[in-house]
Amino acid sequence: MAYKFKRQIFGFMDLLRFKKMVPKREQKFAEASAKPLPATYRVNETAKILHPGSREVVLEEIVLRTADTKTYLFKAPSPSIFRAGQYASLSCRVGDSIVNRPYAISSSPLQALNENKIAVTVKKAGFFSDWLFDNAKVGDKFTLGDASGDFFHDAIRDSKHVVGIAGGSGITPFFSMAQAIAEGSEDFDLTLLYGARTEQDLAFRKELDALSGGRIKVVYVLSDEQKDGFEHGFVTADLIGKYASGDFTVMMCGPQAMYDFVGKELAKMGVTSPKRVRKEANCVGVRDVKPQTFALKVRLRDEVFDVKADSRETLLVAMERAGLKVPSRCRAGGCGFCHSRLISGTYSIAGADKRRLADVKFGYIHPCCTYPDSDMEIDVPPQD
Ligand code: FES
Repeated sequence: MAYKFKRQIFGFMDLLRFKKMVPKREQKFAEASAKPLPATYRVNETAKILHPGSREVVLEEIVLRTADTKTYLFKAPSPSIFRAGQYASLSCRVGDSIVNRPYAISSSPLQALNENKIAVTVKKAGFFSDWLFDNAKVGDKFTLGDASGDFFHDAIRDSKHVVGIAGGSGITPFFSMAQAIAEGSEDFDLTLLYGARTEQDLAFRKELDALSGGRIKVVYVLSDEQKDGFEHGFVTADLIGKYASGDFTVMMCGPQAMYDFVGKELAKMGVTSPKRVRKEANCVGVRDVKPQTFALKVRLRDEVFDVKADSRETLLVAMERAGLKVPSRCRAGGCGFCHSRLISGTYSIAGADKRRLADVKFGYIHPCCTYPDSDMEIDVPPQD
């Protein structure tokens, strides 16, 4: 799309107006206090404490939720602010690599504010989550980024009634939302349809049962087990209709296969608008192509690094494997935090291209969802 800017003619009247401004400005300067401006303001100091970008946190407790899911509770040096449903990036050094992954926050916003404690709940299903599951221990130090993402209830955008559809570890953001509703820091009704293979695979079962009632309703849906007191199969249009009617917003968190299935069921109910159906983005994974190694030249601060990039993995993974500390948050192309300038090379983007028009026009890419198709050179902004 081409943009046209209207050219203003700088005329004689403008010159006159500008001339008249000069004495007024000189008078203002003369009247102003000679006291230097403060080096910092209280509001900026508070913002820095609440949103420091990232902070070092100490692992305080590990709770086994299911056979392959654990909650990691961290103690932060200061309070954190987040909306229930958001994620935070957890990072540490593993071998020669700096590894960073976004995980949904499973604790309550008030706990982060009052006790400086924040928890993520992680399923053992990938390089970093496997490492955490097998190696992380109480007392270990990690870096935790500020909370991010828009998977939270927005009173202007969303209905007062949210139907949450969770698959497996996708329950995590909804558990935070349920706690926030119970604490009074969120103001909406939550009907939660929580799918798992068997009863044993349900995380937070006891805690969710304790929160149920009033504004929170939890329905467990088992796909591989028949038991009294549960719904069975998958989350179908009939099942949604059984527990929700009238005006509601659907929020989904789970695997892509669940999004595809439930999306078709919602279409049968006429619920298709993106405003009414919101999905939490999943991290970009490996792509199924012939393995090839490309040379990736990375400009970072004043240095240039030569990195090997596997055609199946994203540029972000290639840089992390090489031990480079580069910015990332969502790892799904949505936040723009990793956006880097393309100098040369060809590439493919995983899924939909979520870049802004200006980024496309001026040659910026999101390394978190970009696969190399040739040797490449990119300029990456340094991480704070
Ligand atoms: S990390 Fe969010 S767009 Fe790349």
